[in-house]
Amino acid sequence: MKREVVPCLRAPGIRKTELAHPWHSARLANLGQEIGRGCPSKLRKRIVILGSTGSVGKQALEVVRAESQYFEVIGLTAKDNWRLLKQQAQEFSPSAVALANKKNVSKLEGLRRGVKIFGGEEGILELIESLPADLILSCIVGKAALIPTMKALNSGRNVGLANKESMVMAGRLLMEEAHQRGNLLIPVDSEQSAIFQCLQGHRIEDVRRMYLTASGGPFRDWQGDFGKITPEQSLSHPRWDMGPKVSLDSATLANKALEVIETSHLFEIELDRIEILIHPQSIVHSLVEFVDGSILAQLGITDMRLPIHYALNFPERRASHLPHLGLSQLDRLSFESPDYEKFPALRLGYRAGKEGGTLPAVFNAVDEEAGRAFLSRRITFPGIARLIERVMGQHRVIANPCLEEILEVDEWAREKTRELVGKIDS
Ligand SMILES: NC(=O)c1ccc[n+]([C@@H]2O[C@H](COP(=O)([O-])OP(=O)(O)OC[C@H]3O[C@@H](n4cnc5c(N)ncnc54)[C@H](OP(=O)(O)O)[C@@H]3O)[C@@H](O)[C@H]2O)c1
Repeated sequence: MKREVVPCLRAPGIRKTELAHPWHSARLANLGQEIGRGCPSKLRKRIVILGSTGSVGKQALEVVRAESQYFEVIGLTAKDNWRLLKQQAQEFSPSAVALANKKNVSKLEGLRRGVKIFGGEEGILELIESLPADLILSCIVGKAALIPTMKALNSGRNVGLANKESMVMAGRLLMEEAHQRGNLLIPVDSEQSAIFQCLQGHRIEDVRRMYLTASGGPFRDWQGDFGKITPEQSLSHPRWDMGPKVSLDSATLANKALEVIETSHLFEIELDRIEILIHPQSIVHSLVEFVDGSILAQLGITDMRLPIHYALNFPERRASHLPHLGLSQLDRLSFESPDYEKFPALRLGYRAGKEGGTLPAVFNAVDEEAGRAFLSRRITFPGIARLIERVMGQHRVIANPCLEEILEVDEWAREKTRELVGKIDS
């Protein structure tokens, strides 16, 4: 893969204080006008969806389908699922599509004349560079989203970020890129979208704490042996219907650890001021407490299409086709602290985020590899956190790493994990 397209970013020479935060309302208002200029109301916002065949990608297309007067899909990408990508391209008529797995690119032939077809991971980058998108949704799962997300920012595009792993691995670099280019970075994940919405019209200096809510996953009240948990049990989430990786991460609560690190980068707030609340009803999507003691929360139905709708329409707040929350029908809203003993991945994620440097990338890589090993029944459910702890313990942290260093550490951590899984196997 061509890595030189994304420069190794070190000391960009911009002081944070010279720049408004990417969510800052004044800046957003300006950028909103800029988007408006590039996209007068008669024209539709031009959208690229990276990972359009996944859970978030498909839901983003549902929103676009329902609000087609406002949006035009100009690019779609997938990895293997050429059949669905082709169907989506036939329905939405993008200018270009890309399939990361080159082997099947020829299967995309037969699309309407003029549609550009790109192949391979570098093909995704070419697609990003070649299309005049107003907004690129980053919905690829895992580490694979990092370079495309960086490329999108680097090409001066506004990004709607669903993928959290890229922020965990290289949050500082992505934020620097967004700052430098003046791009919007709009969260798509429900928790970060909630915080983003609560922050509108406020200054980060006036924030005391942020509260990220978590459903608690399928094992919140689990009394049995964690060693006997099966992949099937861990993939059946009580509230959200999601892709397999994020479902498993929600069962180990590694997902919430990833989100804490992501939140600290996105909103440039210390980890100590981000607290997790177990909220089994998944109605309050997250909260912000201000210095005067007021707490603002965003509530809504448990449906990813709502934050996707918000991100696509931002800075407008438009009516949606989605059902509204019936507050009077809610039984109760409860909040409790998470159990760090039962869910050690959470503790390890905080540790990785606090130490910073390359440690979050190690946490992320081992979580992804160990999760895969668990799903193929090679290790137990508690084995995931044990592997994270072991590999984190063997890593010599590099402070302020550049992109190349992060990618090297990521490879090292994956290799180490596979080696340890192999020993458990044998
Ligand atoms: N699902 C949710 O409700 C939800 C909510 C909040 C945040 N998120 C975050 O959003 C991201 C996507 O989650 P998801 O649940 O939608 O995942 P998913 O259902 O597994 O979909 C992943 C997408 O990424 C593509 N992809 C996978 N590997 C790739 C690679 N190496 N190169 C290029 N494309 C690749 C897949 O293509 P193929 O289909 O061809 O394999 C698919 O389009 C994750 O970071 C997750 O944490 C998800």
